[in-house]
Amino acid sequence: MADRLRGSGPADLFERPSGGERALVVHVKLPGDALDAPEEFEALAESAGAEVVERVRHRRNLPDPRTFIGSGKVEEIALRVAEQQVGLVLVDQPLSAVQERNLERDLGCRVLDRTGLILDIFAQRARSFEGRLQVELAQLRHISSRLVRGWSHLERQKGGIGLRGPGEKQLELDRRMIGGRIRQIERRLCKVRRAREEGRKSRRRRQLPVVVLVGYTNAGKTTLFRRLTATDRAGEDRLFATLDTSWRRVDLPGGAGAVLADTVGFISRLPHDLVEAFRSTLEEVADADLLLHVIDAGAEERDHQIEQVEAVLTEIGADAVPTLRVYNKIDLCERGAGVVRSGADGDLDGVRLSAVTGEGVEALLEVVAEYLGPSRIRRLVRLSPAQGRLRAQLFRAGHVLAEHCTDGGTLELDVELPVHELERLHVREGLAREEVADLAALPPRSIQSGAR
Ligand code: GTP
Repeated sequence: MADRLRGSGPADLFERPSGGERALVVHVKLPGDALDAPEEFEALAESAGAEVVERVRHRRNLPDPRTFIGSGKVEEIALRVAEQQVGLVLVDQPLSAVQERNLERDLGCRVLDRTGLILDIFAQRARSFEGRLQVELAQLRHISSRLVRGWSHLERQKGGIGLRGPGEKQLELDRRMIGGRIRQIERRLCKVRRAREEGRKSRRRRQLPVVVLVGYTNAGKTTLFRRLTATDRAGEDRLFATLDTSWRRVDLPGGAGAVLADTVGFISRLPHDLVEAFRSTLEEVADADLLLHVIDAGAEERDHQIEQVEAVLTEIGADAVPTLRVYNKIDLCERGAGVVRSGADGDLDGVRLSAVTGEGVEALLEVVAEYLGPSRIRRLVRLSPAQGRLRAQLFRAGHVLAEHCTDGGTLELDVELPVHELERLHVREGLAREEVADLAALPPRSIQSGAR
């Protein structure tokens, strides 16, 4: 069972009822809730190491300000908690600090909301130094917004009976202590990130295209990563098994290579503090040449999961990166493996495969190779004199065949480069699409060669 559910780590700042393995899950549905997935919340609870022994479903028109679920439900749940010797109540809605505290008092056991639960899982999974710092930062930010009277660690130490509050002074001290720790972590993260930035640059220097696996939690990213890179990192049937981005070279048909990365899974209503804390790791996603969006093809909530992943990609600025869909787990579906095309033009949408049986994996590699592959295109690129950095980049990478300066001072570069490289210049270096022309489509006007 997760130690953190019992209250270790930053949560130790508070003297709260400790959690146990036996959990009761409360699923509350409000009128505007788009997603109604009690199973997913239960899977999250189990992922954290809890044993769900009781489930309560509840509909409300409005949250109760004191306890969210209302006094009648609290009484019912309190009975079940006592009967079943439940040590932990998990509520699938965001609770305010006051609601959480009131529920803990009324139920006599530890209460966590969705955000608290997800933070807890992340805390258990973080392995790398950076991952741990990121999670601790998210937890501290979450806690600092939840410091309320009557919930401070000193309350119990003073031997206060019942509801005696700690007083503003203690709250102030707690806030300052947490604020100090947050700043310390931020400084450390800054250093770690600088080191990682170096790693990113060196990968770029090696000129290997970067392919990143993204997807909803449990979609099968790690299993696919392992299959593509022939490593023995096992996929685990628990949510968020992967927290830290891992990189490996993958060989593509035709002899080319790419760097493949596995990343943290996304989930609906991912706590904002976490997205913030993981922003820099997720920046690697925005910097990729190609994203493989892994989808559990047979999941009931499949379309919703796709939308959620796309929403997170937009939030982290990765929506412009070319994306290929990978419909995984087809061994559990009726339709077989193969390339999926969509729209009237038959545009490539993705590939159906099974990461477990390996069916369809070759097709994926071929599609990726075709996208990233050595097939180079020749274009005429127009740059203003102010775009010297871009010009230098093109020369350094050996893409420029010839250069010509027009009377108006515009530079015209005859370049030959891989498709994904050109895409990267558009997306990340701000090269305007209208400044790139297909040479074959141009009248045979002179471009002076040998200008280098
Ligand atoms: P997170 O770390 O939560 O983001 O998960 P993930 O997307 O990396 O998923 P992972 O690879 O850990 O797989 C989750 C579960 O799905 C594991 O039990 C896998 O064995 C299972 N799985 C993955 N791919 C397939 C597949 O093609 N077919 C079947 N039947 N199961 C699969």
